[in-house]
Amino acid sequence: MEWCVSMPKIELHAHLNGSIRDSTLLELTKALIGKGVMNFSEVEHIILKYNRSLKEVFKLFDLIHILTTDHNTVTRITREVIEDFASENVVYLELRTTPKKNDSVGMSKHSYVEAVLKGLRSITSVDVDFIPHCEDSKTLFTPAPVINGHVRKKIFVRLLLSIDRRETTEAAMETVKLALEMRPYGVVGIDLSGNPSIGDWTTYLPALKFAREQGLYVTLHCGELPNSKEIKNMLDFRPQRIGHACFFEDEHWRQLKSSNIPVEICLTSNVRTMTVPSIDVHHFAHLYNAKHPLALCTDDSGVFSTCLSKEYKIAADSFGLGRREMFELSRNAVEHIFADSKVKEDLRKIFNSVAKKYGSVTTVSSLENICI
Ligand code: IMP
Ligand code: ZN
Repeated sequence: MEWCVSMPKIELHAHLNGSIRDSTLLELTKALIGKGVMNFSEVEHIILKYNRSLKEVFKLFDLIHILTTDHNTVTRITREVIEDFASENVVYLELRTTPKKNDSVGMSKHSYVEAVLKGLRSITSVDVDFIPHCEDSKTLFTPAPVINGHVRKKIFVRLLLSIDRRETTEAAMETVKLALEMRPYGVVGIDLSGNPSIGDWTTYLPALKFAREQGLYVTLHCGELPNSKEIKNMLDFRPQRIGHACFFEDEHWRQLKSSNIPVEICLTSNVRTMTVPSIDVHHFAHLYNAKHPLALCTDDSGVFSTCLSKEYKIAADSFGLGRREMFELSRNAVEHIFADSKVKEDLRKIFNSVAKKYGSVTTVSSLENICI
């Protein structure tokens, strides 16, 4: 496990509220119980359950949202989640979250995102790069400073705003407009997520098309349930990435491969929610062997008690991959990030600087590398 932790990693599919620390979730629950807002017996079966079905996971999210949707808590969770990813050497994190309106605490979608940004700015334990570089700035790669013999960690963070499948077309459009407004603060794209058994994804097509026209990147939760028509239509839309791809049929695999859309793979999440029967039959192996573009991700590290290092260890152990292969898998994820080419270039340098340690070679760092 040690080398999985020390290896630089790229996280492309992490939901903010799903990545909440266990200790924070418990503390917030106790606080509400203390105020008499809820009763432990009402929530213990939701919180303490280990293997949750997809349906039960969304019950837990509803509870988490009751506990977290105020400005200070959103700020706190953002800070903690980024610190946790940085502590296991995630060097680039694309964090996604659904902007929420909560009138009872004076929260709008806009102020929700402001609270997330406040969390980003409040981090002092690691260097956080979240403001995109301006066009004419030189490459910002600077070796991490050494303080008292310790190298200070640095993490690039970019944000995706999620559209929840419970929302209306108008609410989704509001999220896209907010993402455009927040671009100077590191918002790079839009995600479509939420309970896959709810709603029709075409409700969000106008907003997703608008996002794309405006140059935002789009990633879709795709194939979490067997819904052949939706999967086909989502692939026809050609998002820049998709998450999961669990219930794909032969025609979907063909379409995915011919369009080369990178897949965010969430091993533990899929096994825990039983969208894949067991790890040994996970489609990771199929896609990896086909050299399809992939990135290992956590999805909801808090809800599924995992972290990115664990996901790499599980992949290595389950599919017989060695350190060099895992390093290459991690390094290749750089090509699928939504941040600008300067960030990509900086990340390639980070990977190059440690390649030898993992039995890999230094590659020519070039802006001409193929990017999505
Ligand atoms: P938030 O957007 O920061 O509140 O993160 C939690 C939200 O992410 C959930 O309420 C869902 O909308 C979404 N989410 C988390 N995990 C999944 C998943 O496995 N499938 C679909 N949506 C998910
Ligand atoms: Zn997800």
